[in-house]
Amino acid sequence: MTGRNQTFISEFLLLGLPVESKQQNLFYAMFLVMYLTTILGNLLIIALIRLDSHLHTPMYLFLSNLSFSDLCFSSVTMPKLLQNMQSQVPSIPYSGCLAQMYFFLFFADLESFLLVAMAYDRYVAICFPLHYTTILSPKLCLLLVVLSWVLTTFHALLHTLLMARLWFCADNMIPHFFCDMSALLKLVCSDTRVNELVIFIMGGIILVIPFLLIIMSYARIVSSILKVPSARGIHRAFSTCGSHLSVVSLFYGTVIGLYLCPSANNSTVKETVMAMMYTVVTPMLNPFIYSLRNRDMKGAFGRVFHKRKIIFSL
Ligand SMILES: *[C@@H]1O[C@H](CO)[C@@H](O)[C@H](O)[C@H]1NC(C)=O
Repeated sequence: MTGRNQTFISEFLLLGLPVESKQQNLFYAMFLVMYLTTILGNLLIIALIRLDSHLHTPMYLFLSNLSFSDLCFSSVTMPKLLQNMQSQVPSIPYSGCLAQMYFFLFFADLESFLLVAMAYDRYVAICFPLHYTTILSPKLCLLLVVLSWVLTTFHALLHTLLMARLWFCADNMIPHFFCDMSALLKLVCSDTRVNELVIFIMGGIILVIPFLLIIMSYARIVSSILKVPSARGIHRAFSTCGSHLSVVSLFYGTVIGLYLCPSANNSTVKETVMAMMYTVVTPMLNPFIYSLRNRDMKGAFGRVFHKRKIIFSL
């Protein structure tokens, strides 16, 4: 039954965004600006944290790792999207498609694990302020980062290998702007039950456990603030954690909305817009959400540029 339809597909066509050709240029300009903002904003954060020794604390080292992860995450999809918007045949080779899927999963997971590490960091800082430096030693920070990289490597590899063993039908058109795992699975002719089971189980673990850990961290933080209510303490805690919580809700809100609450009518437009939210908007907003209302970052900005100015004027 399936034997006749099986062909070797050497490339896929990424149909991209559901926009009319008249608006294509407008969207191209918009995405180019968003991508450049993401790159510059995150590079600025990494550079500031590197250059300013006041920011060599666990919180900022995790933030710098998150910026690096954001930078790579948007570079997995955006350059190809921008290239395809300008070309007549928006194709991607089979191996390129699998590579894109691998790196997409890799950096999405890494982001998720780093957000957990950052929530743990805030939890220790607010609930055990006196033991902060002993608990979050440089060794533990490095261990958390390395553990995130190892876990995410295995998870992305598992899905990519499971995908690589499948046969595709003659249809090679992906109605999406990147090689999304669920969009690819719809084109497969062979049995996808194992893949769907693994996506369901691993997706649950990778999304739900970090999300619960983050919620638990913040619940402990809020209860410890309310135990000793002082206006200054409350203000300080909410201003540091507020920015953090907004990133978390933006990231998990869209991912969970997309994968755990799929709509009944399965509209491609809605799925694409939601995918846009966490692939393009979250990595772009992260640097701004963290640095806008943050005194340390502003201070670092002033110090780093002031120092340069003095060096240049000498
Ligand atoms: C990531 O975190 C580790 C451990 O805290 C740190 O040594 C490293 O410099 C960070 N990497 C980046 C790119 O900031």
